[in-house]
Amino acid sequence: MIAINAKRVAVLVSGGGSNLQALIDGIEERQIPAEIVLVAANKPGVFALERAAKHKIPTAVFPPEDFYSPEEFGRALLHLLEKKQVDLVCLAGFTIILAPVFLQAFPNKIINIHPSLLPAFGGRGMYGIHVHRAVLASGAKYSGATAHIVTTEIDKGPIVCQDVVPVKDNDTPETLAARVLKTEHRIYPRALKLMAEEAVEIDGLRTRIKEY
Ligand code: GRF
Repeated sequence: MIAINAKRVAVLVSGGGSNLQALIDGIEERQIPAEIVLVAANKPGVFALERAAKHKIPTAVFPPEDFYSPEEFGRALLHLLEKKQVDLVCLAGFTIILAPVFLQAFPNKIINIHPSLLPAFGGRGMYGIHVHRAVLASGAKYSGATAHIVTTEIDKGPIVCQDVVPVKDNDTPETLAARVLKTEHRIYPRALKLMAEEAVEIDGLRTRIKEY
């Protein structure tokens, strides 16, 4: 059963979709007043699409190479999301940088999960294993995960949820990535829940959780 005030959510994916799964589980456990009405991927055959299909969630595939420009790609995606009456968008391991035309259509309604303690180790080129390599190379003793609102500045939007993950002396980028991923799965559903409940107050780069 779907909550009466459930927000209609689109999740954009590019890979395995373990964060998508965490969102699906949170919704199915009735922790989040939301319904995923679309999972869109930028490439066919990714496991995230299988996860969606297993839960009977409609899917779409948008290969950027089918479009003349990032703007055209953004407009096509926007058109579909508008048709589906989407309220909130979750980027879950989505590797495409979305054009302003798309971002501006959903002001403060798009969230992303990033595998570091932003604003550290974010920005262009900081994705996937590159992030964890950079964290280890820096000598930092803590990394973490950040769920944030997406703006036109990459990885610089207001932070909704964040948590730390210790770096161990014998970590490799892969072992650190695995530990951080577990934290992503914990905080991303919480971020979606807060957004779906309209509990996030934004003040510049700061957010506050409304008392309710
Ligand atoms: C996660 O580490 C996420 O932070 C990053 O891409 C990875 C996606 O993993 N943006 P998955 O597809 O959710 O398993």
